[in-house]
Amino acid sequence: MLLKVKNEGDFLRQVLIAGNWKMNKLIDETEEFCREFLPLVEDISKVEVLICPVFTSLYPMQELFKGSKVKIGGQDAFWEPRGAYTGEISPAMLLDAGCSYVIIGHSERRQIIGESNVIVNRKIKAAMEAGLNPILCVGETLQERENQRALEVVKEQLTESLQDIDLGEKPLVVAYEPVWAIGTGVNASSDDAREMTGFIRKHLARLYNEEIAAATRILYGGSVKEDNIRDFLAEEDVDGALVGGASLKANSFARIIRAGEDG
Ligand code: 13P
Repeated sequence: MLLKVKNEGDFLRQVLIAGNWKMNKLIDETEEFCREFLPLVEDISKVEVLICPVFTSLYPMQELFKGSKVKIGGQDAFWEPRGAYTGEISPAMLLDAGCSYVIIGHSERRQIIGESNVIVNRKIKAAMEAGLNPILCVGETLQERENQRALEVVKEQLTESLQDIDLGEKPLVVAYEPVWAIGTGVNASSDDAREMTGFIRKHLARLYNEEIAAATRILYGGSVKEDNIRDFLAEEDVDGALVGGASLKANSFARIIRAGEDG
């Protein structure tokens, strides 16, 4: 049976379905999406819905989503609050534009821009201090998987990205996104997702404690579509999804959300 709310002891983990739009959509395309999307998700009450558009679309999106439960988030944030950092954006600025979440350490930033775990760690600290909920992305490349190094790589990403971060008060979301499944149409199998999300929760328990591990939401990302979302959500340690391509169309994203809602 598909669980709408993952229940582990005293902890309820609300399913989170998040859209990562990456570098897509102009403001008028964002507005068109929002107008089409809102009526499709009006009655969604169990699933937490989040969209992370490009920075230029944040403010118009928050205006259009006012009065709805759909949340918005940034795709990245710098670790300093302000100053001479050309091209960067601070967590406080994202909050100012209506964000409650921010994606940190997406594999495209790690691979294309060269972000290290040390940078990811600084960004998570800054986001949390400012009051944003970070979504920490982890995941192995195809080569790392083929070399049987997937667990080791994800363990290192978690350990180093969370160094000196107190999760006692501040909730964290972890997104497991195997690099080889992103934008390829080749999603991880349920077995792969089960193994890695279970491993992530166990490692969080080692880094922190069982309570924090049980309260942390873990998402799967990588070629999520309406026809595979149910398989992922049925896994015990998968508490939602981070959706790229399929979140760009109002209809397909709404159908993914509804799969979580209807269970
Ligand atoms: P796709 O859903 O397009 O594979 O992208 C996944 C992703 O990178 C979400 O952050």
